[in-house]
Amino acid sequence: PPIPVITIDGPTASGKGTVAQRVAQHLGFHYLDSGALYRLTALSVMRRANGNPIPLDDEHALAKAAEHLHCHFSGAHIFLANEDVSNDIRAEAVGNLASKIAAIPTVRQALYGLQLSFRQHPGLVADGRDMGTVIFPHAGLKVFLTASVEARALRRYKQLIDKGFSANMEDLSKDLTERDARDSNRSSAPLKAAEGAYLLDTSAMTADQAVAQVLEWYAAAK
Ligand code: C5P
Repeated sequence: PPIPVITIDGPTASGKGTVAQRVAQHLGFHYLDSGALYRLTALSVMRRANGNPIPLDDEHALAKAAEHLHCHFSGAHIFLANEDVSNDIRAEAVGNLASKIAAIPTVRQALYGLQLSFRQHPGLVADGRDMGTVIFPHAGLKVFLTASVEARALRRYKQLIDKGFSANMEDLSKDLTERDARDSNRSSAPLKAAEGAYLLDTSAMTADQAVAQVLEWYAAAK
């Protein structure tokens, strides 16, 4: 039988990472944070050995950087080359660059095979923007998580402060809105609900409630 996949897509700071991780933990499944791959690509582009970041119009070099990403995942830790960059990739500057790079089709192509390789026994929960539409269109359960801009800005604010970054709500709301617009309006794999996806608005929900809903849908879909 095929290895089961649950996809959880949604806009920035919709809570999909937390929900996907907890669902994976509950089912004993693997977890793919696809946004981390775009963030890792952005970070590696920012940290070029020669000190000169790759310009955004050099699509060939950006796709090469994505293709030759030396990363690995170990529990909640994410490594670039052999450096633990779990916190560094969460900076807003990295997220914003990730979203710009992610609009380039050849960059997305370069990360395609790596994403598929996360599908391993006994199953996978994958979160991102195009998990249900492009990467795992035949997933047994697809979820599209949303939340109001206010709820998302507040979540992102808490995350950043927890990680020791500084942040303010006004800048964050502006960043989120810009990033959503870029992710939704790009021509390559835009952010949208997959066909057959269940919609879940988590604005007024705790993470536990959202996790319980996804697990209920999964049990019913099996
Ligand atoms: O989810 P996260 O905020 O970590 O993703 C960072 C950026 O990577 C997003 O703004 C989006 O542009 C891009 N991304 C994507 N496709 C995915 C996951 C993330 O384009 N599957």
